[in-house]
Amino acid sequence: MTTEVVTGKGRTKVKAVRESGKTLVGSSVTVKGWVRTVRHQKTFSFAEVNDGSSLANLQVVIDSTLESYEKLKEEITTGAALSVTGEVVESPGKGQSVEIKATAVRVVGLCDAETYPLQKKRHSFEFLRGIAHLRPRTNTIGAVTRVRNALAYATHKFFQENGFIYLNSPIITASDCEGAGELFHVTTLDPTSEKKQSYEEDFFAKPSFLTCSGQLNAEIYATAMSDVYTFGPTFRAENSNTSRHLAEFWMIEPEMAFADLQDNMDNAEAYIQYVVKHVLENCREDLELFNKFIDKGLIERLEGVVAAPFERLTYTEAVDILIKSGKKFEYPVEWGVDLQSEHERYLTEEHFKKPVILTDYPARIKAFYMRLNEDGKTVAAMDVLVPGIGELVGGSQREERYDVLLEKIRANKLEEEAYWWYLELRKYGSVPHSGYGLGFERLVQFATGMENIRDVIPFPRTPGHAEF
Ligand code: 4AD
Ligand code: MG
Repeated sequence: MTTEVVTGKGRTKVKAVRESGKTLVGSSVTVKGWVRTVRHQKTFSFAEVNDGSSLANLQVVIDSTLESYEKLKEEITTGAALSVTGEVVESPGKGQSVEIKATAVRVVGLCDAETYPLQKKRHSFEFLRGIAHLRPRTNTIGAVTRVRNALAYATHKFFQENGFIYLNSPIITASDCEGAGELFHVTTLDPTSEKKQSYEEDFFAKPSFLTCSGQLNAEIYATAMSDVYTFGPTFRAENSNTSRHLAEFWMIEPEMAFADLQDNMDNAEAYIQYVVKHVLENCREDLELFNKFIDKGLIERLEGVVAAPFERLTYTEAVDILIKSGKKFEYPVEWGVDLQSEHERYLTEEHFKKPVILTDYPARIKAFYMRLNEDGKTVAAMDVLVPGIGELVGGSQREERYDVLLEKIRANKLEEEAYWWYLELRKYGSVPHSGYGLGFERLVQFATGMENIRDVIPFPRTPGHAEF
C-alpha cells in the first residue's frame, strides 16, 4: 500500500498509518497534527496526535534520549501542533496495532495549556458552540465533520451514477419559492439613511432575497437536461428556535422530467438508502462513537433503513391513524390541518418504527407549485418522515398544466408577473415532472443521532447568532 498523499510533501496521515496494519512497521514516516493528550514518564513521553483524518489518535513515543528532550517536554502540551518523524513500530498497548517511535519532533505551534479551552473532561455541546473555532478538535465534532463529508460525497456519487447533472442554482433571487414570506432581503440601500429610498435605487432595482430553495431554477434545467440536482445553501428567516431549524442550511434538490410522484418517491427512498449504506460502510469508527455516547440504537436503526422499504401512505390515511391512536397531542388532529412534528414523529417512531412517506396532502396547506389531484382538493405532495427527526424531505409532482398553475398562482395571491418565466415553461414543451428537497443537516443528524442541528453544521446561523 502507498502512503503517498497530496496534502503536503512527505507527510503521512494518521488514518493511513493506523490502517496500514503492520505493513509499515520498520519504515520511517512523518506525521503532523495536534496533541490530544500527553503523559510524561521518567524516561519517555507519550503524545496522542490527531490530524482529523480519523477518530483514533496516533500514539507517539518520545524517548528522553532525543535531542532537546527537556525543552520538548515543556512545549508538548495538549493542543500544541507537532511534526513528528519516526519509525512505525508494533504497539504493546491496547487499541492500536502500531505506534511511532519518534526520531525527530518539531513543535510547530505552541499551545498555552493553562488557557486552552479544551480540557480533558467532556464539554457540553452548548459550551462548544461558544468556541466554534476550536470545537472541530473534539472527538464528536470531528466525527460529525467526517460523516457530513461522507454524506456529501455519497450524494454526488448517487446522482452522478444515476445520470443526474449537478446544477448551481442562484443564491440571490427575486422569487419566493415556498411563498412563506421567510426571506432575507438582499440590499445595498442604507437602513440608517434618513432619505426616502425606493427599490429602483437598489442594486437589483427590485426586491431581492437570499434563496429559500433552488427548486424553481432546477425546474428550468430539468425541462432541458432531464435530470438535475442542486446541492447548496438555502436561507430562511423563520424565527424557530428548535433543534431542527437553521436560518442557513444546505439543501439537496433533485428535479426530474417525465417523472410522476411514484418516481419521485422511488428516487428519494433509493437516495436515502444509498447514502446511509455509504456511511455504514465507510464511517464505522465514527458511527460506533455516536452509537456509544450519543444515541444507543443508532447503528441498528440505520441498518433497518437500508434493509426494508419505507412505509408509504396518504395524508388522509395518516390522519386516520393519528385520530385512532388515542394519543393526546398538543395540537389536535383533523383532516386539513398541517401535521406538526409531534404527529410526524408518532407515525415514524411509534406507529411504523421506520421511515414513512406521506403523500397527497390537502392543497390548502402546501405550496402553489404542487400538482392538483383529480379530487380537486389534494395535491401530489410527498414528505419523507424519519425517526428522531420528523420531516427530512419535502417534495411533489409539479403542476405542469398552464391554466391550473395560473389559477393557483392567483388563488395564492402571488404576483403573477414575477412568475412569467415559470409559467412559460408550461407553454413551451411542458412535461410532467417531479422533485424534492432534502435538508442536508437533518440528514447528518439522522446519520449521527446528534440531538441539535447546530452541532452538525460547522458554523450555525440561528436567530441572534452569526459569530465565527
Ligand atoms: O419542505 P421544504 O420547505 O421544501 C422546499 O423547499 C421545496 N422547494 C423542495 C423541493 O421540492 N425542491 O424544505 C425541504 C427540506 C425539509 O424537508 C427539511 O428537511 C429542510 O429542507 N428544511 C430545513 N432544514 C433546516 N432548517 C430549516 N429552517 C429548514 N427548513 C426546511
Ligand atoms: Mg416541508
